[in-house]
Amino acid sequence: MYMTKLVTLSRHILEEQHSFPAAKGDFTNLMMDLTLAFKIISREVNKAGLVEILGATDEENIQGETVMKLDAFAQDRIFKAMDHGGNLCCMASEEVEHIIPIPERFEKGRYILVFDPLDGSSNIDKNVSIGTIFGVFRRVTEGGDGTLEDVLQKGARQVAAGYVVYGSSTILVYSTGAGVHGFTLDPSVGEFLLSHPNIRIPEKGKTYSINEGNYNTWDENTKKYIQWVKESDKETQRPYGLRYIGSLVADFHRNLLAGGIFLYPSNCKDPAHPKPKLRLVYEANPLAFLVEQAGGKASTGTERILDLQPTALHQRVPLIIGSAYDVDKYCEFMSRAGATV
Ligand code: AHG
Ligand code: MN
Ligand code: MN
Repeated sequence: MYMTKLVTLSRHILEEQHSFPAAKGDFTNLMMDLTLAFKIISREVNKAGLVEILGATDEENIQGETVMKLDAFAQDRIFKAMDHGGNLCCMASEEVEHIIPIPERFEKGRYILVFDPLDGSSNIDKNVSIGTIFGVFRRVTEGGDGTLEDVLQKGARQVAAGYVVYGSSTILVYSTGAGVHGFTLDPSVGEFLLSHPNIRIPEKGKTYSINEGNYNTWDENTKKYIQWVKESDKETQRPYGLRYIGSLVADFHRNLLAGGIFLYPSNCKDPAHPKPKLRLVYEANPLAFLVEQAGGKASTGTERILDLQPTALHQRVPLIIGSAYDVDKYCEFMSRAGATV
C-alpha cells in the first residue's frame, strides 16, 4: 500500500517559510488563523442541510446572535479569525461595501487579506459544491490603518492566494508563488493533509465551462469561439464537453486538475456598455495567481488579469481562465475585428 508522507498544511507552510529568509513567521500565523475559519465554515456547510442555514432563522445562539445566512456566517467567521492576529492592516470582502479596518484594540500587521467568503452561495440549498476564495498582499503604505491603496494592488503583486471547495470533501488549494498545492481536510483530526502536491494544469483541456443561457448577451467573437469548441477537435477528433456547476471555485478546481477553460464573458447586449459579472479583487485575481502558478492563463479576453490596475473594490471583469492553449485560443478569436469585452 503506497502511503504518501503525511504533511499537514501548517508543516507545509513552515517548510515554505524557511525558503523565504525574509519571512518572519507572520505569514505562517496568518495562514493558520485563516485555516481555522475554513474548518469552522466547512463544519457549518456540511450541516447546512440539517439546520436550514439558508436565511436568517428566528433562533438565537448562545451569544444572543441571530443564526445567520451562510455567506454572512462565513464572512463573520473569517473576520473574527483574522482581526486579532496582528498580521493584517486591513481586509476586504465581497460582503462588505468598504475596506474592513482592524479594530483599534488590535495590533496591525504588514499584510492585506481580500476574500469572497462564500462563492457559489446560491447553490448551497441544492447541496452543490461552494467555496471561499482569498488573496494576500503586502501593504504598500507606511504604518497605521491599511487603505484602499493597499487593497487595490495589481493581482501580480499578490504574495499568496488560494481557495477552499466545500464539496464531497473540503479541499484547500493555495500558492505562495512556489507552485500550487492542495490539501484535503480530515475532519476526524481537524487537519488539512497534503493530497495534491505541485498541481500543474494540463496545457490543453477537453471541456469548456460557460453559462450557455447567456448566449444572446455574448459578443460575436465569443459566439464564434463557442461554436469552434463544439466542432470536432482536429487533434482528438471530438468536440469539447460542457461542464458548468455555477460555483466558480468548483468549476475552476475541476479545470485546474483535469484541464479545461472557464469563461464568464461580459454581457454585451449593449455593446457600448459591456457588463461583466465576476469580481476582480477577490474572485479573478486570486484564481489568476493560482492558475499561472500551475502553468495556465487568465485573461479578460484581451488583457492578462494579473496586469489589471483595480480602480474600485467591487469592480467586475470578464474572466477567461484555465489551460494555456485554450485561453490563448479564445484570445485569438477576441483579437479579430469587432471584439468588445
Ligand atoms: P458568489 O456566490 O460569490 O456571488 O459568486 C457566484 C458567481 C460564481 O460562483 C459563479 O461562477 C457565477 O456566479 C455563476 O453565475 P451564473 O449563475 O450567472 O452562471
Ligand atoms: Mn463569488
Ligand atoms: Mn460570494
